[in-house]
Amino acid sequence: MRLYINLDHVATVREARKTDEPDPVRAAVLAELGGAQAITVHLREDRRHVKERDVLLLMGTVRTGVNLELALEEGVLSFALEYRPMQATLVPERREEVTTEGGLDLGGTKRQQQVADAVARLRGAGIRTSLFIDPVETTIRVSKDLGADAIELHTGEYANAALFAREEQLQRLRAAASLGREVGLAVHAGHGLTYENVTPVAAIAELEELNIGHSVVSRAIFVGMERAVREMLELVEAARARLGG
Ligand code: PXP
Repeated sequence: MRLYINLDHVATVREARKTDEPDPVRAAVLAELGGAQAITVHLREDRRHVKERDVLLLMGTVRTGVNLELALEEGVLSFALEYRPMQATLVPERREEVTTEGGLDLGGTKRQQQVADAVARLRGAGIRTSLFIDPVETTIRVSKDLGADAIELHTGEYANAALFAREEQLQRLRAAASLGREVGLAVHAGHGLTYENVTPVAAIAELEELNIGHSVVSRAIFVGMERAVREMLELVEAARARLGG
């Protein structure tokens, strides 16, 4: 399983002062030293944290790769097509949201055509393309039909569930991961994962990639980025070792 670290919130702190620190590029170097297997950033339409400059410098600096999260917006899409990150993850975006709420809406022919076009353009440029979706059967099947390489299952409902309801959410994620594999998609997961709740998700055999941001950046404030990533990686690797692979 690959652990990708989302560094948006390093840029969020920088933008709180509209200055040049902390720099997500420096954070990425330390995250890689801690074992991050790629760096994820979300270039939002409003550029509220990560900017083009960050993505370009990250792409020229990291030794692993950059997973660029982007909405279906022509400006950001053209940017991705021009600079070609290792992976693109299509996400929904609403200006007033604090973070990505819910997965991509793949309902309706017009919407599906838009997503299929974006996937085809990204894949045509040699970019591995993933769709951030809720763990719902029809959405998984549609993702396959739209030509994606991978899906990223939204783990927010699991992360927000009360303890007594967690097992039910885990079951949804397990079923979704297994269906994703069955239809021939690579299956990733992320959103709201923390040091406290990551283990059962990391233990889902069909998952091959986790995207974790806020919790790691938060811990990095106290223990440093390299150690924060290493500690998360240790939890993920321990869960996988218990699986026997
Ligand atoms: N995956 C996707 C598609 C996201 O949009 C985000 C948040 O930017 C994450 C994973 C990471 O979520 P968190 O910051 O809660 O770990």
